[in-house]
Amino acid sequence: MTTPGQSPDNALIESIVTHTVDELAPRGLFNFNAPRQTLMGEGAILKIGEMLGHLGVTHVLVVADRVVYEKGLMRSMERSLERAGIEFTIYPAITQEPDESVVTSATELLTRNQADFVLGFGGGSALDAAKVIALAGSCQSSLQQLAEPGFGGRRVIGLGAVPTTAGTGSEVTDISVIMRADRKHKYVIKQVDLMPDLAIVDPGLMLNLPPLVTAATGIDALTHAIEAYAARSSHPLAKALAICAVQSIAEALPVVVGNGGDVAARLTMATAAYKAGLAFSNSGLGLVHAISHQIGARYRLAHGIANGILLPYVMRFNALVCQQEYAAIAHMLGVTRTGMTQREQCMASIDAVRQLLSDVGLPGSLAGTNIHRDDFAAIAADALEDVCIRDNPRDVTEADIVQLLEEVCSTK
Ligand SMILES: NC(=O)c1ccc[n+]([C@@H]2O[C@H](COP(=O)([O-])OP(=O)(O)OC[C@H]3O[C@@H](n4cnc5c(N)ncnc54)[C@H](O)[C@@H]3O)[C@@H](O)[C@H]2O)c1
Ligand SMILES: [Fe+2]
Repeated sequence: MTTPGQSPDNALIESIVTHTVDELAPRGLFNFNAPRQTLMGEGAILKIGEMLGHLGVTHVLVVADRVVYEKGLMRSMERSLERAGIEFTIYPAITQEPDESVVTSATELLTRNQADFVLGFGGGSALDAAKVIALAGSCQSSLQQLAEPGFGGRRVIGLGAVPTTAGTGSEVTDISVIMRADRKHKYVIKQVDLMPDLAIVDPGLMLNLPPLVTAATGIDALTHAIEAYAARSSHPLAKALAICAVQSIAEALPVVVGNGGDVAARLTMATAAYKAGLAFSNSGLGLVHAISHQIGARYRLAHGIANGILLPYVMRFNALVCQQEYAAIAHMLGVTRTGMTQREQCMASIDAVRQLLSDVGLPGSLAGTNIHRDDFAAIAADALEDVCIRDNPRDVTEADIVQLLEEVCSTK
């Protein structure tokens, strides 16, 4: 358009510039959200007082797993906070996957105590609870408001996470998974400000984790890595973290299940869970998590166990569109040989995942659980509503999920 006083040449230049700017419109961008600070390694927890002191924290609400508290795993943290002169209140009420009532009571406590920092201490359940408590307490919002995609509230209360399992990676994700009050449905809340400011990862806190929990949480981390690597929204940075996590888990998981006191292997697992968490939080998951959130809640199946059962079946389903990705995973699992085709490598990755599940003593089928065929259609419908489904690499229908559940239940 020529405006008064503008020569036709200027108009031409302006149109070229506008056209070029349009051509340069951002495409294929990815955002990467991570904690501002991480301290990782044996004894890292001893530094917590000093680190929170530098942040100017005066009063910490510690949202903790009951078992972890009763086992005395929080004593080093208590001493470190005392030495730094930081007040704290421990809320050791997390006994299972957090539901709305536990979150509401802790949020009230946070407001009453006027704490300026929330620290999650425990497995994914305690960390997920701490994350929503800090955000809900900052904005005086309900969980329903937090779960709305357009929720614009910001967290002003500091947030830290100390994982005691190597699985969920919740210390580095902007996600919390919450159980509805009926304890039959779980839902995912994803908000930028659920990302902790600080992650303290100390393998010394994981040495007494029982073998079954070690195996289940480790397989959760493997599922994060495989789903993030193949997710529709995956990108080079997420893929690099995810593939590296697969290799570490294949090496270290059998070791920590067989020798829980191996601190070097525990650190490798904690680092792998951290990398897999960053990968999926910034790219997405897929059908395994979309179904496992439904069956985990309905049948009280531990999250990692449900994921492990589903993982090989979902990989078989997704193989149609993921040959290249699964071939790369086979390579990291150490099951490729020269001369194998890409399809053979892809299938080898699925067999290797089955073998790893069996090696670490986890079930490979839902046979023997109290899952009902009558529920399949409702599970499938709920899975299609789960936020994780969006990033599954292959299109999925309700009939596909019902068929997959049939297979999982009929295999012994
Ligand atoms: N936020 C995320 O990004 C994310 C990702 C995946 C899963 N999740 C959610 O996380 C939850 C599962 O977390 P989890 O798998 O870590 O299990 P968990 O936190 O429920 O803990 C499992 C069991 O291990 C015990 N435990 C934890 N640490 C221990 C230790 N060091 N020694 C002895 N016992 C210990 C706990 O008391 C509990 O009985 C689920 O709700 C799942 O949906 C969240
Ligand atoms: Fe998970």
